[in-house]
Amino acid sequence: MEGKIIDGKEISRQVKEEVKEGVERLKAEGTTPGLAVILVGDDAASSAYVGSKERTTKALGMHSEVIRMDKGTRESALLDEINRLNTDPAIHGILVQLPLPEQIDEQRIIAAIHPDKDVDGFHPENAGRLMAGMDGFVPCTPLGIMVMLERTGVDLNGKHAVVVGRSNIVGKPMSMLLLQANATVTICHSRTEDLPSVTRQADVLVAAVGREGMIGPEHVKDGAVVIDVGINRGEDGKLHGDVDFDRVLPAASAITPVPGGVGPMTIAMLMSNTLKSAEKAHK
Ligand code: GUN
Repeated sequence: MEGKIIDGKEISRQVKEEVKEGVERLKAEGTTPGLAVILVGDDAASSAYVGSKERTTKALGMHSEVIRMDKGTRESALLDEINRLNTDPAIHGILVQLPLPEQIDEQRIIAAIHPDKDVDGFHPENAGRLMAGMDGFVPCTPLGIMVMLERTGVDLNGKHAVVVGRSNIVGKPMSMLLLQANATVTICHSRTEDLPSVTRQADVLVAAVGREGMIGPEHVKDGAVVIDVGINRGEDGKLHGDVDFDRVLPAASAITPVPGGVGPMTIAMLMSNTLKSAEKAHK
């Protein structure tokens, strides 16, 4: 079976178009959605991500505020900034770009963001809401993957979904979303014994491990849907996924490329979460 490549760029374009229309409607009623992004330090990759978020926010007609702080910033100064944004009525979403410098406690920062403005969905209240099946903000990457699967027509009902990776940002929330969609879910990680024997059972395989090309054809059942969350900068200077794309492609019934797969969906869902937050505040 020849693989079918899922076009994340096209699906994200559609989502952004829908968000743009929602923004126009809300602005006509007097509310402009606003997103604040805080970047601490000068990491090149983080800086590029923040720039891309800023451009997209503006392109969809939303208010964008980017706060750049020195890499030696004290935790208390960052908390002050978050508290200011928590009470700023022009701001509906607050995102603190991760990772943070080592003098700052990431968990404490995430917990300081008001849950109603936590468009990343990282706050423990929103993580708990997802677990409990309550409405709240869902992390953008797993949310984007669900939208991709939906719009590709992948049926999850009763299917075996295997998630490789157990991070708070991707693996854990991804598993909860797949479970809510009635999949049978298995979570694998670095300590899993005989990984290929587990992943070969997957009808839908989500790879979120952060190791270039570690998912090969021996991990994939014929006809599986393969979602690659990896963004690894290879020795060739290019971006590579966690999946050995060329060798897995023939077995997969559908597969996401890197770049142009999951990546563009993440930013589209950040925009969607920001609009959702503004719509709630407007009511
Ligand atoms: N760093 C890498 N990915 C993300 C993300 O989705 N949100 C934040 N805040 N930081 C990140």
